[in-house]
Amino acid sequence: MKSAAITEETIRTLVDAFYAKVLKDPDLAPIFTAAIGTTQEEWSPHLARMYDFWSGVALGTARFDGNPMRAHLQLPPFDLALFDRWLALFAQTAHETHEPEAAEHFIVRSRRIADNLRRGLAERTASA
Ligand code: HEM
Repeated sequence: MKSAAITEETIRTLVDAFYAKVLKDPDLAPIFTAAIGTTQEEWSPHLARMYDFWSGVALGTARFDGNPMRAHLQLPPFDLALFDRWLALFAQTAHETHEPEAAEHFIVRSRRIADNLRRGLAERTASA
């Protein structure tokens, strides 16, 4: 069921559904399984961090204490065009789990953060 409101529970639903899609994507999945693993035990800390991250972004809570730029800079370089796929899957999932206004709240923020990350990673590629 699509939610009109954004709550901790709807964030968990969105995050779980999003990474299920990511893991079915032939190009994104290997990047995530190489960094995180394939088992539920390996994934649950990542998912918990992502609940906290999106709770911070969408609801303004302050549980997330990670550094997304550093985390992505530490990954083996990948094709930055994949950000478009990531964003498309995220937007699709946001609309599947939330009513349009709430979905847009996530999508606008995802684009802004993705642009930042992509820029940071592109600078590294340029100076490598
Ligand atoms: C093609 C694009 C992307 C790829 C391949 C990617 C891949 C990954 C991987 C593999 C990790 C796990 C790193 C680790 O635990 O060692 C990660 C962490 C994370 N990603 Fe992404 N990501 C992408 C885009 C994004 C975007 C657009 C956002 C936000 C809107 C995002 C937010 C995060 C956050 C918050 C973490 C956790 C950082 C931490 O633990 O401090 N990612 N990403």
